[in-house]
Amino acid sequence: MKRYILAITGASGSIFGVKLLEELLKTAEVHLAISSNTFPIIKDETGIDWSEDTENKIRKHFNMKRLFFYEDKHMEAPIASGSFKTDGMFVVPCTMKTLAGIANGYANNLIERAADVTIKEGRPLLLCPREMPFSAIHLENMLKLARLGVKIAPPVPAFYHKPKSLDDIVSFIVGKMLDAFDIEHTLFKRWGS
Ligand SMILES: Cc1cc2nc3c(=O)[nH]c(=O)nc-3n(C[C@H](O)[C@H](O)[C@H](O)COP(=O)(O)O)c2cc1C
Repeated sequence: MKRYILAITGASGSIFGVKLLEELLKTAEVHLAISSNTFPIIKDETGIDWSEDTENKIRKHFNMKRLFFYEDKHMEAPIASGSFKTDGMFVVPCTMKTLAGIANGYANNLIERAADVTIKEGRPLLLCPREMPFSAIHLENMLKLARLGVKIAPPVPAFYHKPKSLDDIVSFIVGKMLDAFDIEHTLFKRWGS
């Protein structure tokens, strides 16, 4: 069974992280880290309140033994070490602060450390940066990481699949993230199929 790290940070668009978690759990073991700044945003944008008793609430929500949760200050977590093998990491959505931390090797919390480890071990890493507009600082950080092979996958919708709802748009974007890891899904109809 594949094993992935998923980090959700405090950018708008937490719905993408929650949807990706649901999809990954269909086939894989998931090590989930949520930054402390994210809980009010998840609650505001999705109505899901994971701010207290987080681990129990998440386990109850997904009812999955292969889901592991860590707080961003838990630096002793397995995902902080390269000796803990994974098949890669997603940061969805990714704030400009976490992006800057990763781009500069500034592993100030568990999420930035796990991404640092993923890069140093040469494992796949995908970031879904969310900001509008991007500044030159943001773009330089993204370019630096893209040159290292990190997938930069901002939540940019397409319309050729004729979305009829917000859920269709979210599914398309999450499906493209899964494509980047070659993970099978049925989240959208492919062009030409
Ligand atoms: C409602 C709300 C929305 C935010 N949206 C974004 C965003 O889309 N992108 C971003 O880079 N930061 C956003 N922020 C700011 C980050 O939450 C803030 O920089 C935080 O320190 C990021 O920490 P983290 O990366 O550890 O989660 C938002 C903050 C709030 C309160």
